[in-house]
Amino acid sequence: MKFQKIVDDIYRLAVNIEDENYLFEGIWPIPHGISINAYLIKGEKNVLIDLTQDIMGFPKAITGQMEGLSLAVEDIDIIVVNHMEPDHAGWLREFCKKNTKGLIYCTKKAVPLLEAFGRVPADRAVAITDGMTLEVGEYELQFFETPNIHWPETMMTYETKRKILFACDAFGSYGKVTEDAIFDDQLSEEKHAFFENEALRYYANIVAAFSGAVLKGLTKLSGLDVKIICPSHGIIWRENPGVIIDHYKRYAEYSKGPAEREITLVWSSMYGSTKSMLNLVVETIRKHKIPVHVYQAPGDDIGYILAGAWKSAGLIFGMPTYEYKVFPPMSHVIDELLVKKVTNKKVFRFGSYGWVGGAQRDFESKIEKSGWDLLGFYEWQGAPTREDEQALVQKIDAFCEELIKFTE
Ligand code: FEO
Repeated sequence: MKFQKIVDDIYRLAVNIEDENYLFEGIWPIPHGISINAYLIKGEKNVLIDLTQDIMGFPKAITGQMEGLSLAVEDIDIIVVNHMEPDHAGWLREFCKKNTKGLIYCTKKAVPLLEAFGRVPADRAVAITDGMTLEVGEYELQFFETPNIHWPETMMTYETKRKILFACDAFGSYGKVTEDAIFDDQLSEEKHAFFENEALRYYANIVAAFSGAVLKGLTKLSGLDVKIICPSHGIIWRENPGVIIDHYKRYAEYSKGPAEREITLVWSSMYGSTKSMLNLVVETIRKHKIPVHVYQAPGDDIGYILAGAWKSAGLIFGMPTYEYKVFPPMSHVIDELLVKKVTNKKVFRFGSYGWVGGAQRDFESKIEKSGWDLLGFYEWQGAPTREDEQALVQKIDAFCEELIKFTE
């Protein structure tokens, strides 16, 4: 990939993770890849805003892009580290061995992490204060602490003259960005839909648990006149940055509920008894004109289930009892939803049991502090009868009616 000009002497330096088997953060599948963006300001003083991950030859690729601008690692005077997670700062250790002059601008909370992750001594760091400005030749940078978007030490950098926000993880998405379309105005409608889906899944996987911090950050930055958003993952927004700001605001507000009038249905089955009710449940939901997203556990990855659940106001779990408890793969799904603070949902459960129940009691105990409103459940022994089918339909009808009221 080649460097890309944003405006004046500000450039995007980027790499793509394209290995479809790679797990982002060691957990999340990214079959459509992800871009990792750094930004360079070339001038009287050369500024590098965020770095890259130290994998797959990425430092060499970024160095090559810098060489295209007649710059070497040693020529960087100021390194802005918005965030210490290794997808952006992993190169720091090797970078600072070559570049011994550059000062690192970061938050106070990032300073110990420089040493822990990068073995970079604290005396290389300049701990910013919130709102502090830095004149760099023709450019002026302003730093804003935005804790927990994504880690506690995270900040954003704003170029005040051209009104560019270097937002790091905020406003980012999965999905590799191709050289022919790095800006929002270069994307087809289809590509916009692709990046919207990828942004939601990225948000649900990476940022969702910190939605309170996202809302605080959005309020804090609401007074800034932002013409261009340069995130560290995904496309650059220059035509209409309000689009991605609105998406992120909506995603964050899902945490307060209600989310969209949609249902995410996650199901498991051992010998087919629970599965045999699946189509009936889906048809009943559709009769109410409520979109339903169906996932199987095990089978569908939790990264996708999280995105569906985050966006849906309603959650339905279909799972059998397994040794007096929730079926173990579903237990994992529920745990992950709770870790990511999926909350303020209307919930229903159905499923079969063999010799005795237990899953419902275990389920209720697991979700006790979830903020989920369990509207009902239906269980049956063994294979369902005609009466079981009718009873379940009645309960799903009632659930859908409540969900419609909840989302009005
Ligand atoms: Fe893209 Fe939290 O790092």
